[in-house]
Amino acid sequence: MKRIKIKRLTESDTSPGQVLIKGWVRTRRDAKGFSFMEINDGSCLENIQVVVDSQLSNYADVQGITTGSAVAVTGNLVPSPGKGQKWEIQATEVEIISLAPDTYPLQKKRHSDEFLRTIAHLRPRTNKYGAVFRIRSEMIQVIHRFYREKGFYCLTPPVITGSDCEGAGEMFRVTSLDPDDVAKQGKMDFSHDFFGQESNLTVSGQLSAEMFAQALGDVYTFGPTFRAENSNTSRHVAEFWMLEPEMAFCDLSGNMDHGEELVKYLVDHALDACGQDLELFFKFVDKDLAKRLEILTSKTFERMSYTEAIHILEKSGRKFEYEVYFGIDLQSEHERFLAEEYVKKPVFLYDYPKSIKPFYMRVNDDGTTVAAVDLLVPGIGELIGGSQREERLDVLESRMEEMDMDKAPYWWYLDSRRYGSVPHAGFGLGFERFLMMITGIKNIRDVIPFPRTPGSIDF
Ligand code: 4AD
Ligand code: MG
Repeated sequence: MKRIKIKRLTESDTSPGQVLIKGWVRTRRDAKGFSFMEINDGSCLENIQVVVDSQLSNYADVQGITTGSAVAVTGNLVPSPGKGQKWEIQATEVEIISLAPDTYPLQKKRHSDEFLRTIAHLRPRTNKYGAVFRIRSEMIQVIHRFYREKGFYCLTPPVITGSDCEGAGEMFRVTSLDPDDVAKQGKMDFSHDFFGQESNLTVSGQLSAEMFAQALGDVYTFGPTFRAENSNTSRHVAEFWMLEPEMAFCDLSGNMDHGEELVKYLVDHALDACGQDLELFFKFVDKDLAKRLEILTSKTFERMSYTEAIHILEKSGRKFEYEVYFGIDLQSEHERFLAEEYVKKPVFLYDYPKSIKPFYMRVNDDGTTVAAVDLLVPGIGELIGGSQREERLDVLESRMEEMDMDKAPYWWYLDSRRYGSVPHAGFGLGFERFLMMITGIKNIRDVIPFPRTPGSIDF
């Protein structure tokens, strides 16, 4: 018989009959003449109840089945008399695939997120984390669908690069040199290294995406990026997924339009396609989540210049830990005030001082700001960071000189401004931050399968 998944049983056209289900036992209890098992196969939040009659030939073995064990059940699907479930299975055969000893850490009770992080290899077997990772999968697939529908091409940029896109120097080095040899010589000689020069894991696929946008028009990249920033916060991980659209013939306002359309589309889709899983988060994780998602889909996002934001913060009468003046890099307390208390919805902040932004952003006519844009979201902070790019070769070169950058390694990047340069823009959306926004989960470590953070690389 062909195995079916529990998710299939929740669909309306399911009819009674013989079924085969394989999964993991959440609980089992004995009653007079019967054993009842709750089985989950990971395909959806719901379990299926299996009723085993004591007449079954291996009933004694069935009575030894423990929480966490894997089983295959064949039986008749019948409407369930029990509350809260449509179907149950009257078993005709129970195969024990493997028995879990009672050291199984996920015995039926509520576990803290902190504890579950220590068993990240097992946490997807819980209701909450099963739901997180099903939603994560759905969102990955719909991102590709969104861009396919819009006619964007998907680009897969290199993970190992020789350039530091953000110029923040927070990179993981890639080398094939033997650390013992390096120690003996007293220094790294990159000319003898694998690539003959310094190389690192990418912090962003943007520079590659810019080259391809100026060839294919509209492109996006979606993949892992790496940052060696030593910030142990609930919103930073060392390895995270970034979605980066890059659009030719696009300016800053087109960039914001695109960001808003993208976020709304994805949230709408999550509400549509992940309804059952999302209910869990509405009920148990964040009581305000449903309302916040509603605001995301229905309200037009605010747009405000950095300079305006500084005025608002200065006039707020609020005592911030970090002093507010034109030129500061906004801190999370400032961003939260603006999004959560001032506009009470997502807000695009644009035109930041050039002194706090990377070399590639387009210099505005005022000479002091650049066409940067961040999207700040209540409860999350910065979800998107992007800009219109500097397409004028002379301005770009003088900006790099001003920032003391060695232009030589960027010869190819500068070439794109030499030959057929066009206005273009793009941004990066932190995928894990997006998932925090959708689920109401407060710690980024809980929306990524195996988080990488300072001092921690288990699993
Ligand atoms: O603002 P960022 O640094 O922008 C860039 O890297 C640009 N090159 C993107 C572009 O224009 N194509 O990063 C983009 C987003 C942030 O807004 C944030 O959501 C997320 O990536 N992000 C992180 N997410 C998790 N952990 C970290 N350490 C992150 N750093 C950035
Ligand atoms: Mg940023």
